[in-house]
Amino acid sequence: MAVGQFHVNLLLAFYLCSVFSVSVGQNESAKLPLKAVNLGNWLVTEGWIKPSLFSNIPNNDLLDGTQVQLFSTKLQKYLCPENGGGTVVVANRSSASGWETFRLWRINESTFKFRVFNKQFVGLENQGGGTKVVAVSSAPSNPETFQIIRNEGDKNKVRIKASNGLFLQANLETLVTADYNGQGWEDANPSVFKMTILADKTLQGEYQITNGYGPARAPQVMKDHWNTYITEQDFIFMSSNGLNAVRIPVGWWIAHDPNPPKPFIGGSLAALDNAFIWAQKYRMKVIIDLHAPQASQNGNEHSGTRDGYQEWGDSNIQDTVAVIDCYKIQDSRKKVLYANKPSLAAIELMNEPWAPLISLSTLENYYKQGYDAVRKYTQTVYVIMSNRLNTNSDTELLSFAGGFHRVVIDVHYYNLYTNTFKNMNVQQNIDYVNNQRAAELSRVTSSNGPLSFVGEWTAEWDAKDATMQDYQRFAQAQINVYGRATF
Ligand SMILES: *[C@@H]1O[C@H](CO)[C@@H](O)[C@H](O)[C@H]1NC(C)=O
Ligand SMILES: *[C@@H]1O[C@H](CO)[C@@H](O)[C@H](O)[C@H]1NC(C)=O
Ligand SMILES: *[C@@H]1O[C@H](CO)[C@@H](O)[C@H](O)[C@H]1NC(C)=O
Repeated sequence: MAVGQFHVNLLLAFYLCSVFSVSVGQNESAKLPLKAVNLGNWLVTEGWIKPSLFSNIPNNDLLDGTQVQLFSTKLQKYLCPENGGGTVVVANRSSASGWETFRLWRINESTFKFRVFNKQFVGLENQGGGTKVVAVSSAPSNPETFQIIRNEGDKNKVRIKASNGLFLQANLETLVTADYNGQGWEDANPSVFKMTILADKTLQGEYQITNGYGPARAPQVMKDHWNTYITEQDFIFMSSNGLNAVRIPVGWWIAHDPNPPKPFIGGSLAALDNAFIWAQKYRMKVIIDLHAPQASQNGNEHSGTRDGYQEWGDSNIQDTVAVIDCYKIQDSRKKVLYANKPSLAAIELMNEPWAPLISLSTLENYYKQGYDAVRKYTQTVYVIMSNRLNTNSDTELLSFAGGFHRVVIDVHYYNLYTNTFKNMNVQQNIDYVNNQRAAELSRVTSSNGPLSFVGEWTAEWDAKDATMQDYQRFAQAQINVYGRATF
């Protein structure tokens, strides 16, 4: 955390709590109302917050999930898995959009798999027995593995070597084969492709950084990051500036510490232990937030996704409950159950599930089981349920959540990311907070139902030419309005 970039880098979460009349854990002297800050990019990487973390990865523009389009310089046409996948790959498209876009799975800096629109992988027909290029396999293995060879003078000119040692070529618009044995980079060469990287779709999350550096370098890079990005000094800074809680995003791999599945790196649990030590020392509370469950609940880089496909669903509930259940584990130093740590204020079951792919009933099924997993170990720690994003109803969880004890609904308020805010000036943004956001928050704040929590917000916006005073007025308006939340 670079303190100088506080307003941009940290998604400030400010909240009030009126019902901490029962002691939270065993420490009673938490100052109420709580004011929290979100420690994004610490234990779950978000590259936009600190892009330099990715600087030393070789071929760092070809990370997992990078979307590319391939244009045959000979035919002047784009490659396309016909029907978006499930059959042959052709070279007859004069423009490129969804079907003509491939998502990379990185094996190492030069070797990749290509995942297509319908989620199959590009490979060679007959499980690698033939040379025709198809997109039929959902379980990629050697025939779905390709080396991308970049031209030294123009990195976006490439030749692609298949598992049979031969290059892909596009000689006919209706047939792409892996049987070219020649050399050369001339445009008439059927094995030469112009590769367009969709730069605005690039992912820089935990999967990309750990797999990008690879098993030899990633452990050191991640340990250095964890040890320097958030330190005891930050807890001193936060507590001496009136903050008294932190929300810490974690990924599912923390439950497998110290040996998580590849490419994830062990050690984030020890970093979390440190946060608890500092929180106790500086009289702060901790909210543990499962930001990145397995299979991605929203496709965003902060969900730990490999390629941006949102795939979390019913079949992932059991594993995700098991991650929540891991708070029964003892920390590595003090041998205290996480669930019983005096500084633990709340466990958030999942950050920002995305509708409609995650249905309300699937989510409620998970939330019920996740809640029960927490309650096996503690009756006092709050359980936070994040609203779904991308729905029109911000009250859809209210009556469901009202059936539980010490439950909180998390809403995230950004004057960003949608066209609503694109052309708003400073005052319009502030008015929006005072009017629309105030009304939204009051809708999710019920007198005897679940508590409400604005778990993420920021003083960043799309307003042009804003002065420092404008930023301060915008932040103050949000503190005033979001301070009406009950948690
Ligand atoms: C990348 O992986 C491929 C396939 O496993 C291997 O042949 C190649 O040597 C590796 N390259 C590097 C640079 O590690
Ligand atoms: C491309 O080739 C396929 C396979 O022959 C054909 O079905 C499709 O209609 C062609 N598309 C265009 C745009 O030519
Ligand atoms: C919590 O308890 C610990 C150990 O008893 C103490 O050092 C710390 O100051 C307490 N913190 C609060 C917020 O009361």
